[in-house]
Order: sequence, then structure tokens, then C-alpha cells
Amino acid sequence: MKKAFYLETFGCQMNVVDSEQIVDLLQQVDYVQVPSPDQADLVLLNTCSVRDKAERKVYGHLGRFKPIKDLRPELIIAVGGCVAQQEGERMLEKVPYLDLVFGTHNIHHLPQLVKQVEEQRKRGVEIDFLDRETRLNLFPERTQRDSVTRFVTVMQGCDNFCSYCIVPHVRGREISRPSREVVTEVEGLVAQGAREVTLLGQNVNSYGNRDDSELSFAQLLEQVHDVDGLQRLRFATSHPKDLTDELIECFGRLEKLCQHIHLPLQSGSDRILKLMNRGYTSGDYLRKVEYLKKVCPQIHLTTDIIVGFPGETEEDFQATLDLVEQVSYADAYTFLYSPRIETAAAKMYDDQTGPQKQERFDRLLKVQQRISADIWRADADRTLPVLVEGVSKQGNGQIFGRTEWNRIVNFAGTEDLIGSIVPVRIVKVHRNSHLGEITAPQ
Ligand code: 5AD
Ligand code: SF4
Repeated sequence: MKKAFYLETFGCQMNVVDSEQIVDLLQQVDYVQVPSPDQADLVLLNTCSVRDKAERKVYGHLGRFKPIKDLRPELIIAVGGCVAQQEGERMLEKVPYLDLVFGTHNIHHLPQLVKQVEEQRKRGVEIDFLDRETRLNLFPERTQRDSVTRFVTVMQGCDNFCSYCIVPHVRGREISRPSREVVTEVEGLVAQGAREVTLLGQNVNSYGNRDDSELSFAQLLEQVHDVDGLQRLRFATSHPKDLTDELIECFGRLEKLCQHIHLPLQSGSDRILKLMNRGYTSGDYLRKVEYLKKVCPQIHLTTDIIVGFPGETEEDFQATLDLVEQVSYADAYTFLYSPRIETAAAKMYDDQTGPQKQERFDRLLKVQQRISADIWRADADRTLPVLVEGVSKQGNGQIFGRTEWNRIVNFAGTEDLIGSIVPVRIVKVHRNSHLGEITAPQ
């Protein structure tokens, strides 16, 4: 008889791709996915540790499984991803009802690890980092998903060691996949029905930097762009220091490349950027943004910003506000600085109080909300090409898709349009999405 597993995924797109692999591997050993932990023989959390809040959430969610385990002691509870990598054995000590901890390089081994727990009723931990060759050989075959948009990992890990960031510690060193393999994977996904791919990497535009014989990221984009049947191309997440002119110029040249770039700023203060070990100044950043806007006047930028980095002064914070005004981001993900174990910034002196940081955070949010609202309001009455992704979750007969600028648009339409790009006139601008209507018969 088939067994059932329940999986919850936290964090970034990397974890989403890893969870796809978890699903495939478990299905191969006769597990079926179920929507609730109550019916499961195995529950898994794929976790994120980028900020303390994300990490605490994991422990909160694990707590929900305890009553189920009390009723059914044979239930296996497993934790993977970044918290698992960081905590390892400590997690088993902290959570007595947890059975298995597996790290970010150990997903391929999950079926065997689960089997061991089943057969031996012994708790297990596997968090070893693997060498480059082994990792490159372990990229999984991509299986069919009912999705118009897919992620394609082109590189993994990060060597930048931004002083606040846990990622290099929990994801390991940077590796880039051979370009041929990436292109073949995209061809396969398009054959399965994908129309848009997002090339993924923790630091995607440093692709190939460590291998002189490999293509540059811009050249890789161009090769993927040439895949027949692909209609849209995106990539995330870029590091400003690796945003070359060659890559910027792709936005003027490659018509399938969406007019959107996520370009984390983190801070507008040169002093803080240096303490963060980001490798660029606010001037460098602005020059690149200006060139992007010159090459592609319609481009929309989004960003990540950290408020309250150790020692941030009012002047530093003002520099961030100024830059936010100058760049005019369509959206910004703003975070309160959260000290992370093993990182350099966690040891830096910090004299700001929590309420001071919160007050700055609120001010930034207000500024950004005004800028975002102005940008999105400008879409009203425009007709925009929308790639239709599926049926709206509201269940009101609407379908939804995204504009090139990654904005969700809901509109009346039939399911047969899924996978096509249709012209949609924007009739109403909501806070996080648009309402539209198809303007021309398909
Ligand atoms: N505290 C707050 N925000 C962080 N980020 C990464 N590490 C931290 C931290 N320690 C943010 C950065 C990054 C995004 C994914 O998360 O802005 O770009
Ligand atoms: Fe973290 Fe910096 Fe690497 Fe991004 S580039 S994952 S912020 S260390």
C-alpha cells in the first residue's frame, strides 16, 4: 500500500525547486502527497533561516505536529533546508519528537534516510556538504508539472559572504551548471508545456565566473532565449556587483527577456554597504540603474533593503531613502536586520534600539508604498500583454496571468487561454494585483 507524505515549504525559490525534487523522489518510492498532516505517514518541512522570524516559524510549525505524533507515534517527522543545515544535531536535541534532519546537499538521499528511520526506528541526521563534482552530477531530471512558468537552477551556493547573510554558510560554495545542460533542461520544460522560465541562482549573474571555458551569464541568457516555443525569460537574483554592461544590454536586445530586474540594494549608504561587504557603492549602483533605464526605458526594478544594520545612523538611513526615491522601485522587500549565527555582522557593535529600527522601517515602508502606488496606478487603462498562468483562486470564473513587470492580473476568460500571451486592458488597480479585461478575441 502507498504511504502518504505532507510537505510544507518556506523561503525562497531555491527551496521551491528543492521541494519539487523532494516530491519526485518520494513518489518514486511509492509515497503520495497529501494536503494535510493528519493523514500523513511522513511530514516534512523544507525550511529557511535567512532571518530569525523564518527560523522561529519552523519551530512553531513543528509544534503543530506534536499532537499528531502523540496519537500516532509511527509518524515520521523530517526537517530539511537551511535551518536543518545550520542546526543539524541540535535540532534533534531541541525537538524530541523529530526523527530526521537533512541538509541542503542531501536531498537526493532522502528516500534512503526515510527508509532507515522506518526500518530501524532510529533518529537520523545528514548534513554533509558535497564536493563540486558530486553536486553537479546530482541535478535531478525535471518531471512534468502542470505549470506555464518553471524555475531552472543555473547555479547554486554563494561565495560572497555579505556580512549579514547566512546563505553561504547553509548553501555552501558556488557552483555553475554546464550551459549545455541548462539549455537542454529548458528545451525539455518547454516540450512539457512551459512558456516562461526563470533562471535561478543565489547570485545568478555570477554564473560561470569561476570557469573561463564557460559562457558568461549574458551569453547563457541568449542561448536560452533562442529555445523555440519559449515566450518569456526571467532571472533571479542578481548581485549589483556582477551586473555587467553585457548583461544590461540584453534588456535592449532579447525580446523574450521580461522588462523587470530584481536588484537588491540592501542599503543606500556607502559606509553601510562597505560594512555589509557588498562590493559596490551607491554611485556604482545608480550608474547601473541609469544604464538599465537607458537600454530599456520601460524596465521596472524591484529590490531588497535591510533596515537597522549594526551602527546604522540617521544619515545612513537617509541615504537609503534618497536612493529609493531616485531609483523609483516598483516594489521593495524591506527587512529589519536580524543577526544570524556565524555571520560577521552578528559580532558588530550595535547601539540602536528596537523601536528606533522599527520607526525607520515604517518610514521606508511609507515612502515605498507611495512610489509603488504611483507606478502601478499608471497601468490603468493601458493594454498589456499578459501570459495566462491559470484559473484565479477566488473561483469566480476568472483566469490570471502576469505582465512582463511581474504584476498579477485577474480577468474573465476561459481555461483554453492558459499558456498564451493575451492583450489585457487594465480596468482597476488593486494594492497587489490588477483587474483587467481581454481586449481582442484570440
Ligand atoms: N537580516 C535581515 N534581512 C536579511 N536578508 C538576508 N539576510 C538578512 C538578515 N540577516 C535579506 C536581504 C536579502 C533577502 C533575501 O533577505 O535583503 O536580499
Ligand atoms: Fe547572501 Fe550576499 Fe550571497 Fe545574496 S550575495 S546570498 S545576500 S551572501
